[in-house]
Amino acid sequence: METKIINIDQNNIDSELMAEAGRLIAEGELVAFPTETVYGLGGDALDPKASKKIYSAKGRPSDNPLIVHIADFSDMARVAKTIPEDARKLSDAFWPGPLTMIVQKSDAVPDATTGGMDTVAVRMPNHPIALDLIRRSGCLIAAPSANTSGRPSPTEAAHVAEDLSGKIAMIIDGGPVGIGIESTIIDLTEETPMVLRPGYITPAMLSEVLGREVVIDPGIIAADDTRKPKAPGMKYKHYAPKANMVIVDGTRKRVIEKINELVAEHKDDGKKIAVIATEETKDCYEADVVLSMGSRDDEDSIAHELYRILRECDDLDVDVIFSESFSTPRIGQAIMNRMLKAAGHQVIDTRVTYDKIIFVAQSGTCREQMAKEIMKEFALKVPMDVEARGLVVQFPEPLNQKAEAVLIGNGISTEGIVSEQLEESDITETTMVFTMESSQRDKIIEKFENVDPEQVFVLSQYVGDELEILDPYGGTLQNYGLCYESLRATIKKLVKMLNENHQEQ
Ligand code: TXA
Ligand code: MG
Repeated sequence: METKIINIDQNNIDSELMAEAGRLIAEGELVAFPTETVYGLGGDALDPKASKKIYSAKGRPSDNPLIVHIADFSDMARVAKTIPEDARKLSDAFWPGPLTMIVQKSDAVPDATTGGMDTVAVRMPNHPIALDLIRRSGCLIAAPSANTSGRPSPTEAAHVAEDLSGKIAMIIDGGPVGIGIESTIIDLTEETPMVLRPGYITPAMLSEVLGREVVIDPGIIAADDTRKPKAPGMKYKHYAPKANMVIVDGTRKRVIEKINELVAEHKDDGKKIAVIATEETKDCYEADVVLSMGSRDDEDSIAHELYRILRECDDLDVDVIFSESFSTPRIGQAIMNRMLKAAGHQVIDTRVTYDKIIFVAQSGTCREQMAKEIMKEFALKVPMDVEARGLVVQFPEPLNQKAEAVLIGNGISTEGIVSEQLEESDITETTMVFTMESSQRDKIIEKFENVDPEQVFVLSQYVGDELEILDPYGGTLQNYGLCYESLRATIKKLVKMLNENHQEQ
């Protein structure tokens, strides 16, 4: 079959060409089209023959159900047995948009479309070409991602052509997609809504709209692939590049060191190596190919580039891929879910277990000493050495007298406390350094070249406080008392965080 490729400008849709595309769908043929997430491979959702064609064009197992795409909320009544109240709320908030809802299916939806399940996945895409195609065809459109099963999802029409040319009637080229990873899937058929596939719309956003708890399918966040995910498609080794891929996690410095070490090893074996990096780190690697996902601060760019870059690795015929890890704040879970699959869950964790804390301020006689003494009052699950150091200590001095009075007033012994100068040798690879002020952090990083900046933290920032711990020097006893109180509150948070981190490992 010859695949016709048409170019459509989403801001100025050519109705004649779109009418032809719509007709093809209505006649039971397949048309690939852009959505805001990835390109979809569309066919008439209520025609079992069209669904079968989709499975065969993609080489997809037929027990893996398709998403039914609709253009108006009223269409949901055609495919859903009943429409849950939650579906209305989520539709109001997120449709058209990158969210797929699972509901009980109506009799109109053939088993071929749902892989024999009695539920159906429904989504209203936020893309003018996709919506136009659905309306013109007069059909509801079943559409999986328009890639060969097992390859990265297509984010450009050229990716679709690569995989499906000659197998489908038409490809609508509407330019690169916006988001780049597939929609979030939420299952509304259970008592508690459950996210089956993470995406651009996060569990927190869903839970806020629903006003109740939303859980995440444990099968998709497990550290390995031993637990079966609920969405049939999530169990396959998806999104896989041809090369063997390994993710390296940890602080920037350690990740760069480790990846370069691995690159050197594999180069000796004559392998062609790609590194997936960021704008900030792309010049730090010695690999044959270094691909940048964009700035680490720009998670939209990382999501957008991911599949394109995995395909590029295939095109460049690399043997091994080493990738940085991208646990970004908002959609990091969605990004890492895809990356872990692409890597077959091969992760090298370079993070260390810290065994020492040094509190640092200027003189070594006040805030850092109070912090150290307060820290001793709390229980750490894994014991750590706790020290206090000053940035400028000419000779050992005793604890500031007002600080001493406050500590004693709070039942803390101050015996034997003297100031000590911070030396580079104090900071090992397993030491966390906490300064009271950000200028103190800057000084440490500037002065000690061998110290990894990602081991040095401003105490208040680390625990998420806005205000730094102010220097009470020259103030009244009351000022010192307030300083003690704020240090205590901050350190309580610190201990909680350290104990939680430990639990996660
Ligand atoms: O962003 C998207 O959702 C894209 C665009 C084209 O809309 N589509 C997409 O479709 O990613 P696909 O087929 O590649 O992924 C659909 C996923 C599969 O993991 C499938 O198992 C799951 O949705 N799914 C579909 N129906 C389901 C159902 N009734 N119950 C549980 N999971 C279902
Ligand atoms: Mg897919």
